[in-house]
Amino acid sequence: MKTPEGQILRRYERMDTRLFDDPGAACKEVADAIEQLILERAAEGRSAVLGLATGSTPVRLYKELIRRHKEEGLSFQNVVSFNLDEYYGLSGEHPESYRCFMEDQLFTHVDIPRENTYVPDGMVDRDAVLASCKAYEQAIVDAGGIDIQLLGIGRTGHIGFNEPGSGPGSRTRLVTLDSLTRSDAARDFLGEENVPRHAITMGVGTILEAKKICLLAWGDSKAAVIAASVEGEPTEAVPASFLQSHEECIFCVDTAAGSHLTRQRYPWLVGPIEWTPEVARKAVVWLSQKLGKPLLKLVDEDYSENGMADLLTEKGSAYKLNIKQFNIAQHTITGWPGGKPEADDSNRPERAIPSVKRSLILSPEPKDDVCSLGGTMHRLANQGHDVTVAYLTSGNLAVPDTDARRAIELIMELAREREDAGEISFAQKVEQQLDEKGAFGEDSSEIRHLKGLIRRGEARSSARLLELEPSQLRFLDLPFYEKGRYRRFQSAQADVDLMVQLLEETQPHQIFAMGLGHDPLSVPAICFQILSTALTALKDDSWMKDCRVWLYRGPGREWDVHEIDMAVPLSPDEFEFKIRGIYQHQSQRSQTPSPGAKNMRNSWTEVSELNRATAAFYDSLGLAEYEAIEGFKRWSPGLGS
Ligand code: GLP
Repeated sequence: MKTPEGQILRRYERMDTRLFDDPGAACKEVADAIEQLILERAAEGRSAVLGLATGSTPVRLYKELIRRHKEEGLSFQNVVSFNLDEYYGLSGEHPESYRCFMEDQLFTHVDIPRENTYVPDGMVDRDAVLASCKAYEQAIVDAGGIDIQLLGIGRTGHIGFNEPGSGPGSRTRLVTLDSLTRSDAARDFLGEENVPRHAITMGVGTILEAKKICLLAWGDSKAAVIAASVEGEPTEAVPASFLQSHEECIFCVDTAAGSHLTRQRYPWLVGPIEWTPEVARKAVVWLSQKLGKPLLKLVDEDYSENGMADLLTEKGSAYKLNIKQFNIAQHTITGWPGGKPEADDSNRPERAIPSVKRSLILSPEPKDDVCSLGGTMHRLANQGHDVTVAYLTSGNLAVPDTDARRAIELIMELAREREDAGEISFAQKVEQQLDEKGAFGEDSSEIRHLKGLIRRGEARSSARLLELEPSQLRFLDLPFYEKGRYRRFQSAQADVDLMVQLLEETQPHQIFAMGLGHDPLSVPAICFQILSTALTALKDDSWMKDCRVWLYRGPGREWDVHEIDMAVPLSPDEFEFKIRGIYQHQSQRSQTPSPGAKNMRNSWTEVSELNRATAAFYDSLGLAEYEAIEGFKRWSPGLGS
């Protein structure tokens, strides 16, 4: 931070923030610090006191610690741990309790004495909560205080469960969960209605008393809140921003989670930069938006007064810069996502030949496809391409019991009419399993299978509306999902093998995929990883030389306009088709299909808002005005042209 750039950076970033290309590298560094602490304390015959967090974020770090224990003999005998929080009303046996999470993810794999592991008691009576919270704080003091506190961050800016409104002096207490936090946890609990409304959490003040603090964040869904915490004024609206006052607090984030920091988003404001074509595009689009001027109306002063004088000097004039960026944006727009046959394709995102392409659409869960690229799928089908849609996971974990019950009642009624004893006993068995498991229980394999079939049916009727035949759909049911729970998925070679088989069978000219930049433990990110491993394994296949990969961002998200390499405009009618396609996913009406959308209605609104917003953005740059636009980014590591 002593360099001139460091000083400029310090003007924006109010705390020590480290950016990593990959969460693995960040976890290694944090694991080093923890190991060093444990060893130092062990040498002194003292305990190391760790403040632990739950959620997907620290899982990789815990894996690294377990590895060091198993392979390198790192002992946790002298470790005392305090967890940040616990859902109120859940016992330690509940699979979604934080106690259970910690047992699964760390404690049972290392030699930490169980009596040294503290997690707030979620089952304490209401009138005993206060005393229990005080005792928790006292236990921390008695242990000598927390040496290293690990933190994740919620999209509301919460740390632990200190939701917006929590002050810097707050202590361990019972809190009410924010609706966004509950909707983020909906999938873990198989429906938002099952998510507890309250939790016990250490306070912000309790956290700030730790000697060192390390906050971790991965994936672009955290980008906005990381920027607000690091660059904004400390405020109760973003409790993590209070960490700015701690002398020894660092944020370790991957590039996706750090993508809204000024140094990444507007690097030309922070210091001298290399004006690569990508940065120039981003900067000019930003300037046009900032000043509310179409690209072709920007003048020299606009550039020089907004930190882009060097770009102006390099390129000669605003006029040249404007034209260049206008053309780049213009050339992203195409109504022919599979390429326009017999047309000059030198300025089109897709090539004209072959005129009929094998297009493979990969949808991590049913519905990701139609929400994100329903209009494009419709066009591809209409324009005669050989389209295959592959649903990578069954999505059965997101089906509420009410839908499974309705389906099984239907099966039962039919079976009775047909006097089919086998079917009747199957339906009775599943009904009984549904009764016995209750809202929080794990689904049996029969229930999961039935729920998967419900989603297949919805995917089929959605695709049919987009003019795709059921024979064009493939259901991979990747094993990592069938065996797992949200936040605890782990892919294996069997998943890659199925992907390799799909690719070899379809030999696509174009692949539409999502998951880059998502939280690494999320279903889309795991699917993307599987795809990328499979593509690497197949890199020498001849069809790969003629294959393009187009990334869509996913439901409830869209690329920034400067990132879009192919923009597919939708007419009002096509847009209507897409919305009707989304509505076929009936079982998802009360699920959280995308960040911020709490029900089907919101999801509908969100999709329409995003696609319309992209169209409005293009319009504001001075390009044609469309009803809606779906955006794609080209991804081509090691692939052909
Ligand atoms: C929960 C936990 C937080 C955690 C947050 C983010 O709300 N109480 O401690 O930081 O989730 O979870 P994830 O890491 O899964 O994004």
